[in-house]
Order: sequence, then structure tokens, then C-alpha cells
Amino acid sequence: MKTTLSVIKADIGSIGGHICPSRQLLDSVRNHIEENAGDLIIDHYLSFTGDDIAILMTHTHGPGHDEIHRLAWDAFLAGTETARRQGLYGAGQDLLKESFSGNVKGMGPAVAELEFEERPNEPFLFFAADKTDPGAYNLPLYLAFADPMNTPGLILAPGMSRGFRFVVMDVGHTEGDRVIELNTPEDLYDLAALLRDPERYVIESVWSRDTGEQAVAASTSRLHNIAGKYTGKDDPVMLVRAQKMFPATGEILAPYAIGHFVAGGMRGSHQMPLMPVGLNSGISYFDGPPVVSCAAFAMHEGRLTEAVDAFAHPFWDEVRNRVAGKAMEMRRQGFVGAAMLPMSELEYTGIMEKLEALQPRFTVRG
Ligand code: F6R
Ligand code: MG
Ligand code: MG
Repeated sequence: MKTTLSVIKADIGSIGGHICPSRQLLDSVRNHIEENAGDLIIDHYLSFTGDDIAILMTHTHGPGHDEIHRLAWDAFLAGTETARRQGLYGAGQDLLKESFSGNVKGMGPAVAELEFEERPNEPFLFFAADKTDPGAYNLPLYLAFADPMNTPGLILAPGMSRGFRFVVMDVGHTEGDRVIELNTPEDLYDLAALLRDPERYVIESVWSRDTGEQAVAASTSRLHNIAGKYTGKDDPVMLVRAQKMFPATGEILAPYAIGHFVAGGMRGSHQMPLMPVGLNSGISYFDGPPVVSCAAFAMHEGRLTEAVDAFAHPFWDEVRNRVAGKAMEMRRQGFVGAAMLPMSELEYTGIMEKLEALQPRFTVRG
């Protein structure tokens, strides 16, 4: 029997601006799932990261199944009603389409789905990031799956000897999914050449070349490509299977100790370091910093264990302190240069009008 993991995530409203969803909002999403799931799903786990609510479901219907997607969509609609009733900020913000069309892809919510034959033991990780975009996972995935400096398993573990296949999406292409497949180690430099531009090229999935099995599924939606304008950062989710023919959990987590700079933060328009945080954490400094949470699970026949908070260990306190330092250091630079995103990635376009209005006041000296 094949098991499917589906995680569907949306920002449908939050308290105090973009801090976190309300308890009532979470309850209404949870109640909708519990009252309507019937035997459609085997198990589920509801959580939030910053202002985003994620519904992780296990089932046997495969990726892209309309009833699974509808369950999540309707749960978010039910939540949106609560968000409106409570006057939450950005109620229903990520539900960009009026009516459900069979698949939430392209409708606003972020989706990541994995289908596989369960191993006798099945460790996997569920990541959710807020105040950033899908390219935030590029560097951590590259390091975990392609760099033996991070992942000794690439030279030690027999099940990883042939490396991995990366599927990378050109998210700038809006007329369909434009993807490329690259194999590491031989395509390593080509992969790096693409991943250096995380706003354009995003890792969608990673596959074992030893067994052909899928290790990673990440969401790739860019909200501004759906809405035609910026409606918020895309706040990506990701599922990663760990151990044996895949990197160990520790190898997958290690890159998050870097606190690398990602797009996001205040008004979705800045470069800020990515901070690993505990499950169900909110947002604070400068509408950020961008955060990533990780819930670790084991699973048997689709039944989930409790979620274990992978970034709760005291080790990550030191990382968080360093990332806070990096964030404050970058913020001392205000609006100048590297601190703010390039024009094409700004969520607020007021600056374009300002620059336009200034043009006639320029003079060219003779
Ligand atoms: C992502 C997020 C941000 C906001 C952005 C602008 O979760 O909340 O990307 O969309 O900061 O939001 P406003 O204009 O509402 O402050
Ligand atoms: Mg938001
Ligand atoms: Mg968000």
C-alpha cells in the first residue's frame, strides 16, 4: 500500500498584523477537518508557523487528489469566516480564487505532497517557513543532498553512493511548469548556477538515484504569479524523508545553523537571515525575521506519531542568538543596497511611482 503525505498551507488571518493566527481560527480549521474528514484521510496534524496554518494529512489517494485538496480548501474557508468575525488582519489573504477548481495549486495555498511505499520505519520531516519564499530551501537542500562537507553520508552510506536527482522549477515562467532535472554529483556546478538565484529557480523535488525514490517535495507557488501582483510572501512548506538511502535527519537540519539571508521580512521586501524556531512560533522583529520550523515524525501505515520539535534542542538557542545578531546588523543598513530586495521582488511598488515622479526633475548638464 502506498501512503501519501499532503501538506497544504495558507495565511488566512492573524493577530496584531502578521504575528500568528488566533486560537479560535486554529480551532475552526481543526474542527472542520475533524468533522468532515470521515475516512478520507488516515491521520492529520495541524500547526502554525508565523501567520500561516498548515494541515498535514496522510492518506492513500496520491498527490493532487481533489477531495483531499477540497477538504483543506474548505477548512481554510471555514477559518476565514472566523478570521473575519474576529477582525483578524489579512482574513482569507491566501485564498486567491473565488471557487474551488479541484486542486489548490495555483489558488493561493502552498502545497507539498509525497507518495511512497512505507519503509518498515519511516522517519520524515515537515518544514514550514514564514516571511520568505520557496527559494529559502535551495541552499539547505543543496548542502544536505549534494555536499559531502555537510553530509558525510554521501561518502559513508552505501545507499547514497550514486547521489541525487534534483528537479528545479523556473518560477518566473507563468504559462506552465518549466522544470529541469539535474543529477549530482556530475551536474553540481550547473545546479549551483541555478540555485544562486532563489527568486527564479526553486528546488521542487529531490530523488534518490540509488532507488529512484522521492526524498523531498517542496512548494513552489509564487503568489504574485497567481494574483498578477504581490499579495504577500509565499511562505513555503516542504516534506523530507530521512535516513538510510536519504540523508540523516541531522544532515538535513545542519544547514539551518547558517541562518542564510533570504528574501522576506518587513513588507515582504527585504533580505533577512532565516531563523530556525520552535513549532507554533509567531513573528516579531521587523515583521520577521523569516522563520523556519521543523516537525519530525515517524509513521506506520499512515498513522503519525506525535510531532517532535526538531529546533527545540538547546543547540538552536545559540543559532537563534547569532541569527538575531545578523538580522540587527543587516537592519542597521536600512533601505540601502543589499538590505532591500531588487525592484522586481518588492511587495510594495510605491517606490516605482516615486522614481517616476522624480524623472522630470533631473537635468543633464551640458
Ligand atoms: C507573509 C507576510 C508578508 C506580508 C507583507 C506585507 O506571511 O505576511 O509577506 O504580506 O509583510 O503585508 P502588509 O502590507 O499587510 O503589511
Ligand atoms: Mg502573512
Ligand atoms: Mg505568512
